Amino acid sequence: MCGIIGFTGKKEAQDILLDGLASLEYRGYDSAGISYFKDTGKISIRKTVGKVKDLRAICDDENNSTCGIGHTRWATHGGVTNSNAHPHKVGKVSLIHNGIIENYHELAEEYDLSSSLISETDTEVAAALFNKLYDGSPVDAIRKAARLFHGSFAFCIMFKDHPGTIYAIRNVSPMVASYCEDGSFIASDLTAFINYSRRYFIVPEYHILTMKEDGITLEDLEGNQIQPEYLEVDWDVAAAQKDGYPHFMLKEIHEQPDAFTRTITPRIVNQLPDFTEDGLPDELFADCTDITVVACGTAMHAGMVGKTLMQGMLKIPVTVSVASEFRYEQPVISRTSLVIVVSQSGETIDTLEALRLAKKYTTKTLSIVNVKGSSIARESNYVLYTHAGPEIAVASTKAYTVQMASFYLLCCKLGLSLNKITEHEAKTFIKNLQNVPNTISQVLTQESEMQRLTNRMINAQNTFFIGRSLDYTLSMEGALKLKEISYIHAEAYAAGELKHGTIALISDGVPVIALATQKHVYSKVISNIREVKARGAYVILLSKDENITDKSVCDVHIRLPESPDAFSVFNSVVILQLIAYYTAVGKGFNPDQPRNLAKSVTVE
Ligand code: G6P
Repeated sequence: MCGIIGFTGKKEAQDILLDGLASLEYRGYDSAGISYFKDTGKISIRKTVGKVKDLRAICDDENNSTCGIGHTRWATHGGVTNSNAHPHKVGKVSLIHNGIIENYHELAEEYDLSSSLISETDTEVAAALFNKLYDGSPVDAIRKAARLFHGSFAFCIMFKDHPGTIYAIRNVSPMVASYCEDGSFIASDLTAFINYSRRYFIVPEYHILTMKEDGITLEDLEGNQIQPEYLEVDWDVAAAQKDGYPHFMLKEIHEQPDAFTRTITPRIVNQLPDFTEDGLPDELFADCTDITVVACGTAMHAGMVGKTLMQGMLKIPVTVSVASEFRYEQPVISRTSLVIVVSQSGETIDTLEALRLAKKYTTKTLSIVNVKGSSIARESNYVLYTHAGPEIAVASTKAYTVQMASFYLLCCKLGLSLNKITEHEAKTFIKNLQNVPNTISQVLTQESEMQRLTNRMINAQNTFFIGRSLDYTLSMEGALKLKEISYIHAEAYAAGELKHGTIALISDGVPVIALATQKHVYSKVISNIREVKARGAYVILLSKDENITDKSVCDVHIRLPESPDAFSVFNSVVILQLIAYYTAVGKGFNPDQPRNLAKSVTVE
């Protein structure tokens, strides 16, 4: 949460900072601000409640500074106000921060900082502490302060009497940096400066970065110089742009067939799953007795799909835990357990901490991660990268689909290793998986129909998503998608469970989105649909059944392409994403930046 950027170099900084912040807005958009060195050596700040476009409106057209830092905020400590917006300035120090300093009260008291504070933020306490410890050497002050902070932080700091230089340090909260022809860049993620450099390095934790126009130096807290390890971006600049679509979310929905193909193709050899290139050894699968999946949000929903599939096919226990709960439970994990950690960003703090906990019990932790080199990817024993490309919209779409795809590949591999399926069955399974991009493309042709359909959703107060088995797990994702971007209350229910209370909320016209794609529970779901229909619900049914004409079953039937039951999830989810997208747009909301949310949740 919160996006940060810093630049010092040969170009004017203001536009670099503002454009970079615009691409970091997915990390928070409560307020935005920049600070920069003026010719006079003074540090100036512009900041405002609102989005980067509001900040741009109050920036100085004449600003030709070549060194500055910028921030877009997701409020944690202190409300959404101008004084709580970053950058903060205390004495000679101006800084921006992503993370939470947990002991800021104690530090303020112990170092007598309160009199210099005007905001309610932990960040301003950090600025005051750096200022207090500063005696002319920024690196010394940072070294001392870093040892005092408890919590997570990524700081970019400017000291008034060191014009042209930006200092940085981080713990947990992500930060990448690069030195190139134009100068030195640092940001929460590289989309912020990819227009200038395709090379970057991940800033190691507790290392101090000194960034100048002509280079970056990196040292540990003992003062040892470290050489940064540069990586090269493996996706196109265009992938982080809207490419003619009105919103990133719609673009990302449409990217799903390609993202799917990119993710599965390198892992299929001779029509069988093969993870040799990913470095996953056969022993990882061979003696697996049980699986625990840990994740948050949409990634957790992908885990639910994985669980239903794997438990059914492998006949071993599979549990799914919300990472923030898993951390405080007593995990039942043994040496033969496989722990699968799922995260698009690879930085979600609860998921990262859950991984660290799991590693105390087993060496078989495998992460399914989209962002290369992210913390979760680095810290897990094994990593399976999804190849969704950058996902910018806060509501996850293509990342979810490729996370599910990864579970399907893993399940097939485990099935073979544990002798639960034959090679012939595995080949058929893989063939079905390879056909998914075709059926998703077919579903995407129904887009305008979905748009029309949502006219009926726009005025709804409550909606329900129901299904059984895999369809139930998809209902959870459908409900989350709708509520997070359209602000309509949406609940997912196992279709058979509705009558144990929630059916009391069904009244005339309440939309119920019902999924019935699984033959073994089809007639049961249809009975459950009749129950809500009889109570006045407006039923939108997703099924592969070509014979639905009966108006007592549904008001609208969305016909899904023919595909084996286990693979229908990939088609249904696209419909659910489109329903959520067009409902939000129909209500006049920007689906890319839903209120109160951020894409990368780096606070607990
Ligand atoms: C946030 C995002 C969700 C995402 C979740 C987990 O809540 O808004 O879209 O599913 O975090 O993120 P991760 O990066 O770990 O998949």
